[in-house]
Amino acid sequence: MAESNKKKQPRNRSLAAVVLAAGRGKRLKSSTAKVLHPVCGRPALWHVLQLVLVAKPTRIVVVVAPGADDVRDAVRSWGISPAPVFVEQREQLGTGHAVMTTEKAVGRVHDVLIANGDLDPVTVDDIRRLMLAHRRKGPAATIAATELAEPGGYGRVVRERGRVSRIVEGVDATPAERQLREVATNWMAFRRDLLFATLPLLDRENRQREYYLNRAIPILLDKGERIEVVRCDTGGVMGLNSREGLAGVQRVLRARINARHMDNGVTVLDPATTYIDVDVRIGRDSTIYPNTFLEGGTRIGRRCTIGPSVGMADSTVGDGSAVFFAVVEGSKIGRGVEVGPFARLRQGAELEDGSAVGNFVEVKATRLGKGSKAKHLTYLGNGRIGRGVNIGAGTVFVNYDGYDKHVTVVEDGASIGSDTMLVAPVRVGKDANTGAGSVITKDVPDGALAVERSEQRNIEGFRKRKDATHRASDKGRGA
Ligand code: UD1
Ligand code: CA
Repeated sequence: MAESNKKKQPRNRSLAAVVLAAGRGKRLKSSTAKVLHPVCGRPALWHVLQLVLVAKPTRIVVVVAPGADDVRDAVRSWGISPAPVFVEQREQLGTGHAVMTTEKAVGRVHDVLIANGDLDPVTVDDIRRLMLAHRRKGPAATIAATELAEPGGYGRVVRERGRVSRIVEGVDATPAERQLREVATNWMAFRRDLLFATLPLLDRENRQREYYLNRAIPILLDKGERIEVVRCDTGGVMGLNSREGLAGVQRVLRARINARHMDNGVTVLDPATTYIDVDVRIGRDSTIYPNTFLEGGTRIGRRCTIGPSVGMADSTVGDGSAVFFAVVEGSKIGRGVEVGPFARLRQGAELEDGSAVGNFVEVKATRLGKGSKAKHLTYLGNGRIGRGVNIGAGTVFVNYDGYDKHVTVVEDGASIGSDTMLVAPVRVGKDANTGAGSVITKDVPDGALAVERSEQRNIEGFRKRKDATHRASDKGRGA
């Protein structure tokens, strides 16, 4: 039942969203599905679904190629509500054909929002304006368009007397049409009944022999329907059709993420060399120095300084900590902690408040207690280190016997001398010391000093005798 244009649009028109994700993405030359290529830490399709959710659809339909278990599994893992349903498009005959396959899954809703799964990077605000224009003005379709300096193969918006008349793919455009800079994204809202009444009328009369979704526009206009165009901001790029497109979309989203953090009171010294994944959170008055990568679910507190040259993934940093020239993954850093330069924290490193890890120190599956320090040239693996402990330069937790990993325990207040080998499993007691250069294989009692090395021998007059024998032999040879 088609609604009349003049009828007042109900405020709460029900909406289904259709995401097109069945394309092969040949131009990427990849074994990964196009829509699963990551952009700022999440697959392109994830970003598309986040934008789709802004429009508050009651159902989401994702068009996939036959099988496509990778795409289905990925989407399910994101726990999106309403849970997207999948429709298989047997043959990739074009975007119009892809939408046509969703008719049953879309069901009885007023409107359908369509999106490319390969991410035309419009903004959250663009989606709001698109839906508002569509609901307020009640056209048959509302299209999100943008201006590109290099419109390439994208669909040109052809206008007659200011009004859109059709959208022509770059490959099908006349030389005059190719000059047009205004291009259509595939973010389009349609009135449901009109959409599915029009799609069967599409033909394949074009260079690619495909059923183009945008061919529905002139058909609707011929029927006397109205089409609206909303101008939007894709940052000068479009979907990730190629590796270059992927880099472009990534650059645009990265700039938006950096801008969001700066809006929130984070100093980003050089946004051009700062790479922050979309899920990362950063507290106020923190400063991010150049050449820094913050990835996955990383959480940074307030008043931290991160970078320069930090690669951090899936880690948390408490307020007032400083991390520089470091590689950090799966680690927990407390408050007021210093990490770096040239430190590496691996999975399960836990640095409690006020602790410090310095140059050429590697920490794995080890808790470093409050205020404890390991500042130079050290490996701490599978350790439990108490509070106020000092780990001397060159210390190694010898955690691996060739078969299993073993635990080293260092109790509160202990002091580990430089170049100590702690052969696990072993325990150094409270306030105990180890002598420099010791190989510790037995537990050290509380308060004791463990020294394990041969006695020092001093050989008097050694140099003088050595020099004399050298001089004698030189003469012998040189003469
Ligand atoms: C498409 C538009 C173009 C627009 C551009 C914006 C068409 C014909 N062209 O071009 O006007 O400027 O997006 O980025 O719509 N897909 C399917 N099944 C198919 C074909 C494609 O699901 O049979 C999916 C793809 O996975 C992709 C999306 O539809 O996510 C768009 O297809 P793609 O081939 O990338 O179209 P573009 O050339 O980018
Ligand atoms: Ca595309």
